[in-house]
Amino acid sequence: MASWIVGHLAGLDFHTVLDAFSGTGSVGYALKRAGKRVTCNDLLAFNRQIAMALIENKRERLTWERMAPLLAPIPGRPYDDFIARTFEGVYFTPAENRWLDVAVQNLDRVSCRYRRALAFYAIYQAAMAKRPYNLFHRRNLYMRTADVARTFGNKASWDRSFDDHVRRFVQQGDRAVFDNGTDCTSTCGDAMSLPTTFELVYLDPPYMNRRGVGVDYHHFYHFLEGLTRYREWGGLVDFESAHRRLRPVPSPWTRPGEIHGAFERLFERFADSLLAVSYRSDGIPSLDELARMLRRFKGRIRCHTRRSAAYALSRNRGSCEVLFVG
Ligand SMILES: C[S@@+](CC[C@H](N)C(=O)[O-])C[C@H]1O[C@@H](n2cnc3c(N)ncnc32)[C@H](O)[C@@H]1O
Repeated sequence: MASWIVGHLAGLDFHTVLDAFSGTGSVGYALKRAGKRVTCNDLLAFNRQIAMALIENKRERLTWERMAPLLAPIPGRPYDDFIARTFEGVYFTPAENRWLDVAVQNLDRVSCRYRRALAFYAIYQAAMAKRPYNLFHRRNLYMRTADVARTFGNKASWDRSFDDHVRRFVQQGDRAVFDNGTDCTSTCGDAMSLPTTFELVYLDPPYMNRRGVGVDYHHFYHFLEGLTRYREWGGLVDFESAHRRLRPVPSPWTRPGEIHGAFERLFERFADSLLAVSYRSDGIPSLDELARMLRRFKGRIRCHTRRSAAYALSRNRGSCEVLFVG
């Protein structure tokens, strides 16, 4: 999908670009590959770490030799056991929880922020690989541990050790590091508060389906956010929730009554830049509504479509991936 998006931007005259809702950084990364000076931004701190590791970082590599000693207790060092205490029976086994407590606290020994970000990246990937649905939205460790006949192979990934997963992701992360000859950066904040000086702004905000249900990334990935903000984590958890999510933060992107206004404010803020907006054909606002809003700020709009990749387990096979360029 990222190369399809960047391919449609190739003919436009721009060098500086903001990926304002960067998530995994996959589009920002493709833009970096295309030689652009990329700024990646996301509201979530863990996504900022990913962008710092793979996009802002020009040359620092972590290596497994540096990472391996951080995955076991350092003799004489006291460790908090926050994950073991708080998430017993929720996502990972007790031994895995203790592993996470140790590894994350050891990351403060990595003085280079790019290597530390690569280490976080490897731990996030490992934690997602070991989760049913790759998410943290339910207390469902039992899906992994239940003694039932399996018709699919995920259990092998769930049960592979953190060390094995992390080793593979350290190598993957290191291979992805390169210098494109420009200064790319990463930030963490609300897209509405970012500077307006970019030649092109790419917008891929959370998607709301036609029933008015939005994707709440803060809810799906709260555990990765907690790993990133380990020292503050205890003060952020909603202890009323069975799966110990972070206390919800209100967002216009998950509220049907507010999402039109959120799009309009974004378009208005970045009206002086070329605008590229990723969307799907069956959401709120509708395609027509979105095009109308964009037209208030942009004289010329192009709309590219392609069939959506079917997400795992999704029953929605009919929608199209859309890219508006204004
Ligand atoms: C659809 S995803 C982006 C996916 C991304 N293009 C990729 O390739 O992975 C939307 C992202 O917006 C982020 N987000 C939500 N509200 C935000 C806000 N107000 N400002 C910036 N980022 C926000 C979420 O954390 C999530 O990562």
